[in-house]
Amino acid sequence: MEIGSHSYYRIVGRPSCRGEMKACVTFDSRYGNTEKIAKSLATGLEEAGIRATCVGVSSVIVESLSEYDLICVGGPTQYRTASKAMQDFLGSLSKVDLSGKRAFAFDTKRDSLLAGSAAKYIEGALKNRGMRIVSQRQSAMIATPEAEMERRESESKDEWKERRHGSEKLLGGEGGRFEQIGRQVGRALLEAAPMSIRS
Ligand SMILES: Cc1cc2nc3c(=O)[nH]c(=O)nc-3n(C[C@H](O)[C@H](O)[C@H](O)COP(=O)(O)O)c2cc1C
Repeated sequence: MEIGSHSYYRIVGRPSCRGEMKACVTFDSRYGNTEKIAKSLATGLEEAGIRATCVGVSSVIVESLSEYDLICVGGPTQYRTASKAMQDFLGSLSKVDLSGKRAFAFDTKRDSLLAGSAAKYIEGALKNRGMRIVSQRQSAMIATPEAEMERRESESKDEWKERRHGSEKLLGGEGGRFEQIGRQVGRALLEAAPMSIRS
């Protein structure tokens, strides 16, 4: 079903079971890198036995999030923090009581000390909503040639130019690493769940 700019995806066509735990992986993505990582994470969650749905932030019906046992939120690092669309989405979470719900934050970013992190912002916002972080935030790395990286690190916020970013691609292996992270997060969720839900 296409709603807004992103589709709702079921990752694996596994029939749902009674008592099965559900995760919603919500993401922002301008050039598709974070979307790929979100799908990898959802695949890993499914492999761990969690029913996972992937949806872009512009398509999320915030009230429906209360139906999920786990909410994963990820976005691109922009200007060393979360994108405007992600910040707006996180602000909209005030419409629903998600306190006590399990959560996990992730982002895509450059492999640099000066890169900043959207996931740090996201994790903080989820905690502020009273959500419980099931596993520490994770970043998927974007490949950037070294010389280009040095030049960018010296840039001020106003000097970021959009045309420089569209060609950035994930480092090789980051998709597989996020499937593994999805399995770990899924197992952590199951361990945190009461026995009645697990069986
Ligand atoms: C306007 C803009 C600002 C960016 N600022 C940063 C930044 O501060 N730190 C960083 O690590 N990456 C930065 N990037 C790179 C993105 O994080 C990277 O390209 C990411 O993979 C984009 O994800 P997406 O393909 O899901 O949109 C920026 C990209 C854009 C377009």
